[in-house]
Amino acid sequence: MGKLKYVLLVVWLCFQVTENMVAQSSFSGGKKISSDLFGLFFEDINYAADGGLYAELVQNRSFEYNPTEQRGWNPFSFWEYFAPGYSYGRISVETMDPVHPNNPHYMVLDIEHIGHEAQHKGPAGVGLKNPGFGGMIVKSGEKYNFSMFARQLSKEPVQLTISLETPNGKVLAETKISTSSTDWTKYTASLVPTTSNDTAHLVILATSEGKLSLDMVSLFPEKTFKNRPNGLRADMAQVLADIKPRFVRFPGGCLVHGDGLGNMYRWKNTIGPLEQRKAQRNIWGYHQTAGLGYFEYFQFCEDIGAKPLPVVPAAVSCQNSGGTWRVGGTGQKALDKIEMDEYIQEVLDLIEWANGPVNSVWGAKRAAAGHPASFNLEYIGIGNEDKITPEFEERFRAIFKVVKARHPEITVIGTSGPFHSGEDFEKGWKLAKELKVPIVDEHYYTDPTWFINNQYRYDKYNRKDGEVYLGEYASWGNKMKNAIAEAVYMIGLERNGDVVRMASYAPLLAKKDFTQWTTDMIFFENTKICLTPNYYVQKMFSANQGDYYFGNVISKNEKDSTLAASCVRDSKSGDVMLKMVNYSNVAKPMKINLSKFKSLASNAEQTLLAGDAEAENTLENMDKVAPVQSIMKVKKAFEYSAPPMSLTVIRIKTRK
Ligand code: AHR
Repeated sequence: MGKLKYVLLVVWLCFQVTENMVAQSSFSGGKKISSDLFGLFFEDINYAADGGLYAELVQNRSFEYNPTEQRGWNPFSFWEYFAPGYSYGRISVETMDPVHPNNPHYMVLDIEHIGHEAQHKGPAGVGLKNPGFGGMIVKSGEKYNFSMFARQLSKEPVQLTISLETPNGKVLAETKISTSSTDWTKYTASLVPTTSNDTAHLVILATSEGKLSLDMVSLFPEKTFKNRPNGLRADMAQVLADIKPRFVRFPGGCLVHGDGLGNMYRWKNTIGPLEQRKAQRNIWGYHQTAGLGYFEYFQFCEDIGAKPLPVVPAAVSCQNSGGTWRVGGTGQKALDKIEMDEYIQEVLDLIEWANGPVNSVWGAKRAAAGHPASFNLEYIGIGNEDKITPEFEERFRAIFKVVKARHPEITVIGTSGPFHSGEDFEKGWKLAKELKVPIVDEHYYTDPTWFINNQYRYDKYNRKDGEVYLGEYASWGNKMKNAIAEAVYMIGLERNGDVVRMASYAPLLAKKDFTQWTTDMIFFENTKICLTPNYYVQKMFSANQGDYYFGNVISKNEKDSTLAASCVRDSKSGDVMLKMVNYSNVAKPMKINLSKFKSLASNAEQTLLAGDAEAENTLENMDKVAPVQSIMKVKKAFEYSAPPMSLTVIRIKTRK
């Protein structure tokens, strides 16, 4: 190294050390808190995935619907047979020779006669129509990608017209396909509607005589989130991205442990080519295609800069299996001990699939799906609010022991039942302490008053017992009073960010008329997305997270439990964030003293969410409550009057 280069290196090093000292000293008095504190909980409940976030427009695309999912459902559900122009034929659902054994049912279309009656206007043929999930939304000039698997069963090719139509038959887009193989073959085509429509149907019309099998009939908008194939509904994924979550939990919720052992969420069934995935009954009473499976989930996390937090079953099913919650017993079933080695390997394989090199067995499958780089998995949850029975304990211990030994780099999250206290809560924590499980998942849904009265819950937690992941919580309701009670509580989570590692509100999404859980963060229908006050609170906290917490910056009446406030700083951006909550119905003063921070910008961004305690947004009236942004002047010391029923976030730039 030349002398000049050496001198420059020394100067640069000195500069770095000084910079770090400035950065550290400006944090004096700050407490290190989790940088993964606020994230998202995603579960396919309330049609959150199929019919929701997953952008597939065809319903029952693989003819796997059946009555165990909903009484009256069968493989023909959501498919209408029609034979215009005095044509005739037959349809049947068969299983003899499927595209893949994981996807056993397929439709056979036998076109016996195409009508040629002169008086018939329009096309003649035999075919099927699918209305999607309550009509398909198509936009003029945008591209829709059609695909299907077909197998020609007749000697002659079958001519097919594929179109998008309004319910009364007006053609919006059309293309033609001719079968070319007597083996299962994937056919693809694009449809570009000339007019926009919110209730379009997909139509497959055979216009020549013959016979064919059909399966995996699919239609996706080209414009999915980040234009990913097999992707997510762009507008909905964007509102999730806007929250700037630090992590996304998946796939649940009760969906993880399932309604009986055969219904547990097995991650391997949800990766690879769509036609090879195993669809199954959704515990919430509908159908799960697994189209939004593990790959799509990890990809989404990467696309929005969130860490993945997969939760695997602890080899037991939901204690409410079979509806046993109604009689207060336990419907929990445990995997046979003989199956445990294989099951534990399945969990290890997930870690290898996420992080392993491309020449490992499961890393190679990730690479084959288009993602050779590691997904950098850091966390894994084992179990979802399970009943802490001896069977659970035995299986949890076995899984935890092996994961810990084989993957010390992965942080395991244990579970402590469905309530904030009680037998399972006690037993779950006892087990976690004994095994030194690093993080324990707590779940509770209760009324706003509980959240206010328990805002100091985590101040009392023994820091040596392990950290907390508040994996599911919500106060019962979507009114301002619910959201602001949650905000009071979230201040407590920030203040205790040294012991609360993560928190996620639940559930996330709910489709109108298909809602099994009434309090949710976002309500939607095909054309609209309604953001609740609870969503705005989550967004205001999550998009303004810090990694250092400062007490003594905001003073207020400490005896008043309707007031809560916090100050955090993000060491990456240097920004200081003040959060002030007022759960009462009168404005209340707070005093801010920022003298510990150097070089504060005088203009700060203020976001204020305020409204009547009973106010709520609905799909019919979506904008009753929304945060308002403004620029405000800040000084080293100033007073703030927190409006009634409000959350205020003030974000101030500092020199790093
Ligand atoms: O979030 C809805 C449900 O509540 C989850 O599936 C379950 O874990 C909890 O009981």
